[in-house]
Amino acid sequence: AKKAVLGPLVGAVDQGTSSTRFLVFNSKTAELLSHHQVEIKQEFPREGWVEQDPKEILQSVYECIEKTCEKLGQLNIDISNIKAIGVSNQRETTVVWDKLTGEPLYNAVAAPVSPGPSDPVAVAPSGSSVPAAGTPSVWLDLRTQSTVENLSKRIPGNNNFVKSKTGLPLSTYFSAVKLRWLLDNVRKVQRAVEEDRALFGTIDSWLIWSLTGGANGGVHCTDVTNASRTMLFNIHSLEWDKELCEFFEIPMKILPNVRSSSEIYGLMCLGDQSAALVGQMCFQDGQAKNTYGTGCFLLCNTGRKCVFSEHGLLTTVAYKLGRDKPVYYALEGSVAIAGAVIRWLRDNLGIIKTSEEIEKLAKEVGTSYGCYFVPAFSGLYAPYWEPSARGIICGLTQFTNKCHIAFAALEAVCFQTREILDAMNRDCGIPLSHLQVDGGMTNNKILMQLQADILYIPVVKPSMPETTALGAAMAAGAAEGVGVWSLEPEDLSAVTMERFEPQINAEESEIRYSTWKKAVMKSVGWVT
Ligand code: G3P
Repeated sequence: AKKAVLGPLVGAVDQGTSSTRFLVFNSKTAELLSHHQVEIKQEFPREGWVEQDPKEILQSVYECIEKTCEKLGQLNIDISNIKAIGVSNQRETTVVWDKLTGEPLYNAVAAPVSPGPSDPVAVAPSGSSVPAAGTPSVWLDLRTQSTVENLSKRIPGNNNFVKSKTGLPLSTYFSAVKLRWLLDNVRKVQRAVEEDRALFGTIDSWLIWSLTGGANGGVHCTDVTNASRTMLFNIHSLEWDKELCEFFEIPMKILPNVRSSSEIYGLMCLGDQSAALVGQMCFQDGQAKNTYGTGCFLLCNTGRKCVFSEHGLLTTVAYKLGRDKPVYYALEGSVAIAGAVIRWLRDNLGIIKTSEEIEKLAKEVGTSYGCYFVPAFSGLYAPYWEPSARGIICGLTQFTNKCHIAFAALEAVCFQTREILDAMNRDCGIPLSHLQVDGGMTNNKILMQLQADILYIPVVKPSMPETTALGAAMAAGAAEGVGVWSLEPEDLSAVTMERFEPQINAEESEIRYSTWKKAVMKSVGWVT
């Protein structure tokens, strides 16, 4: 059959917390030509622990690439037109592996060592599911709360020591404390470090090392955006920080090389939220986007300035699109649970069978009937940074049914976004006039309308919501030596925009938001 003629193509691996995708775009229009998606298992071996299997993640990448190529073949598209592949990934999630064997080193099943209170990894609690071999601790994991408390007691100088270098508060969210935990608790990791066999990485590093040869010469690297979420990286000098590594007692020899977000190192990579910023073309100071994935992440480009928040936001590296290009920074509002609440309603409560069904349930009632759902499963992130919070559903009556709870879950995503938008407006001084959004959940029209109502500004979404993957493809296609993507608006001609205007009155919007805040206060202090 005759092959279709197209411009150069660019692929993107989008490795998120809930799923892995591979997508292929036409670099001349940003048209999505084909993709494949595989859901990723999450293990909850103990309360507060969240783990995934790095080998399953890697396998899912291979599967997605293979299936997408098959689909392209069915469309008569020649896969040799794919000129580069970008990577965008869930950030912070921590893997340590053996560079000689390529095996992840955290294995609670195969290598139990004298179980005891100081060796929790060796003990699988009865009745819990046993973690898969080589599971990394994902960004939502809370096991390091006591590590954080101990570290915060011995912060050198003033409390600003970590934040002034990294832009981040000392929290269970970031990689350094997860790595500290692995070094303290997993004998296999300790031994591999002593024997100079251990490599540390976030998911981008693990994938790039594996995909570029693994134990046979894989490239051990990361990019500035992922490095900026480890809490070991100095966001001013753009290098691993010796003082931070000393403070967390992390051997620097296990850290990956830090590169820009757009250059050939086998593959190009960006943390997923930075990739979405690029995919939304937020290249100007003051431009912002909100991505609805497992969590919700609102990033505002602050240009070449490192702005520090007074209102609970993080300062992070937005991107550095080339070895000799300048670094851009962003203020970030991170919400831990967004899409994850829908997955919870599906997997834990069973009130929906597929994630899409939530829209139907919510539509049936069109209101939460006074029910508020604060999904603080992993404590609260921005703007509160409150590890003592836990999820609550309140305002229940005998009239409340699963449709109201579904509606309240969607509203919770919108209220949390409102909280970070308010903080962003206060930090930036100039309120955002509209919100650019993306991510799988933005296909849910009820959610989008609710978001416009609760923010009380228009919400603008692209027709193709996979902006994270698009951004990774753009960074890959624009890299020196690839040069098939110009990063100009005309190269996004296949992407159209849909706009949602507020439809309720401002007073109603404020009343609902202030009731939400009351509910949030009830969730705080649940655990001590
Ligand atoms: O910081 C965590 C974030 O990168 C995860 O993104 O898309 O899996 O919710 P996502």
